Amino acid sequence: MEANSGKSTTNASSLRWKILRRNLIRRSSSNSEDKSEMGIQRISRKATHGFNLIPFHLMKDRVEENVNSMDSSRNATLCYTLPVTNASPLILHQRADDMAHLNDFEVCNRYDIDNTGLVCQWPSEDVLAHYCLSRASIFRGKRVIELGSGYGLAGLIVAMTTEAREVFISDGNPQVVDYIQRNVNANSGSFGGTEVKPLMLHWGQEKDSDISNTFDVIIASDCTFFKEFHGALVRTIKSLLKKEGPSEAILFSPRRGNSLDKFLGEVKDSGLHFSTDEMYDTEVWRRHQGFVEGDDSWPNYEMDHCYPLLVRITR
Ligand SMILES: C[S@@+](CC[C@H](N)C(=O)[O-])C[C@H]1O[C@@H](n2cnc3c(N)ncnc32)[C@H](O)[C@@H]1O
Repeated sequence: MEANSGKSTTNASSLRWKILRRNLIRRSSSNSEDKSEMGIQRISRKATHGFNLIPFHLMKDRVEENVNSMDSSRNATLCYTLPVTNASPLILHQRADDMAHLNDFEVCNRYDIDNTGLVCQWPSEDVLAHYCLSRASIFRGKRVIELGSGYGLAGLIVAMTTEAREVFISDGNPQVVDYIQRNVNANSGSFGGTEVKPLMLHWGQEKDSDISNTFDVIIASDCTFFKEFHGALVRTIKSLLKKEGPSEAILFSPRRGNSLDKFLGEVKDSGLHFSTDEMYDTEVWRRHQGFVEGDDSWPNYEMDHCYPLLVRITR
């Protein structure tokens, strides 16, 4: 994915159209038989190109009517086994094909959003989930929100394993929020005393809302590549972080050229403070080095676009 340097709506729309067009062309060139055969391969391919820090297996792969779509979606259900004593299996529904639907384009334009949350679960989400899982004390008793969560793996893991007080799992794409709702429902018996809420939240549009200045911890992965949304994302982080007492945002993002640096420039300009860390987890670093040295389970791996840095932001 390339970062977009333009700020205008026209640039944003044409960038979205490029992503969607690529997927639509792929769709029209494959027949339905190919599609059914390739469904499992696709979900496997997308999910296995990554750090694979949390074991999972595919439970189901089937065509379903999408609630808010004229198209039918091929959905897959994954079952994650969390490396925590007595943890329940985590169920995650997601789109199985990497093809956009015509309706996606219409939704993207109407809501000024991209469809990257539907394309797949990105490798940084797995890293974020692993990081949260192994540092439960950051979240215990806290009010937490995941921004741009896509299918919401990290938010669900925080909800299931850390004894957080409340976890909001949010995204600005309503189709993605439908999946978040499904995934929250699918795991609702595993949250213990933690309250979990799916939320439609478009960065920069939450002014004066009742969630302003209320979060102890914000988490997000791979949300900094579209430069046109950097300013809005920074404003959202600033407005959601609690003012009284300690609060922080924990983000994982690959550098992607100068995209992350530009985002950090906006963070600085906003008066927030940040730190970045490259070697934040020995296991993630070990796997990264394996890919760099030729482990071919992730073809074309290169650090700039694939390895997420840890960014911590405070007031
Ligand atoms: C690259 S995806 C990352 C999804 C997920 N965190 C992951 O790593 O798999 C970026 C996510 O941010 C969401 N997003 C993009 N622009 C947004 C905006 N302006 N407001 C809220 N969400 C947005 C997209 O819908 C998408 O789910």
